[in-house]
Amino acid sequence: MSDTESKTYKKCINCGKHYSVALMINKLYCSEECASQYRRCENCGNFYLFLGPPGAGKGTMAFKAKEHYSIPHISTGDLFRAAIEDQTELGKQVKSILDKGDLVPDELTTAMIKERLKNPDSKKGFILDGFPRTIPQAEALKEIIKIDKVVNFTIPESEVVRRLSGRRVCRNCGESFHMEFIPPKKEGVCDKCSGELYTRDDDQIDAIKNRLSVYNKSTAPLINFYKEDESLVNVNSNQKPDAVFNDLKEILK
Ligand code: AP5
Ligand code: MG
Repeated sequence: MSDTESKTYKKCINCGKHYSVALMINKLYCSEECASQYRRCENCGNFYLFLGPPGAGKGTMAFKAKEHYSIPHISTGDLFRAAIEDQTELGKQVKSILDKGDLVPDELTTAMIKERLKNPDSKKGFILDGFPRTIPQAEALKEIIKIDKVVNFTIPESEVVRRLSGRRVCRNCGESFHMEFIPPKKEGVCDKCSGELYTRDDDQIDAIKNRLSVYNKSTAPLINFYKEDESLVNVNSNQKPDAVFNDLKEILK
């Protein structure tokens, strides 16, 4: 144990007690008891993160995977849109940022996700979709939990524009459709819950272009960040949805 390490103290993420980092389990928990309370087990492998440019199909695949693996789908984009819909303080703060396709500041986003991860439904695993989107967010997540697999959905930029400009989302359950590629059985109506389908405010061409440039500048560097800890796997998202999901299942099994 180095001198600096033995003198460094950190909060246990379960009970909040300050503890010597060198004696902590995975540098996160002060004791075995806290580790087991915080998550089911170190090897259960249900903590997933979906990375990839806007329109890559993260949400579409997360919808399938959450049912297949019985774990929650936590999308920061969905959480922000719900806050806007409910006209909460947070919603009012972030509306114009989302409409333009810019990023919500790290502090707000990280605070929101920390709160969400306190929910008991996420203790056995989750799919994080759209978080982290910056290196500081990834550093903050590292302090909270160890991610088992980072899936990076790859797709050419030209395809992103086609996918997002044809997207329709269910106002009720959040399922995504595409007017050309994944059309609903009845126009304007969700196949799953009969909810109303709508076009997202940020699926306009200017906002799509801005989201792509924000992705390249702030989010793409996460690929190398997660390559370094060897948890990143690429999935070719430029295939039919069933083929993408089959590849995904091979990775997450
Ligand atoms: P968010 O909601 O996360 O938007 P995004 O990253 O722009 O991603 P999308 O939801 O547009 O794409 P997706 O990959 O989920 O694609 P989908 O499956 O729908 O974030 C929105 C905003 O919130 C951000 O711009 C930012 O302002 C803010 N925000 C969120 N997180 C933040 C954070 N961490 N920090 C700061 N700000 C944050 O598919 C797209 C379309 O393609 C659909 O029509 C679908 O039907 C179709 N499709 C999917 N798969 C296929 C396929 N295989 N073949 C053909 N079509 C397909
Ligand atoms: Mg999405």
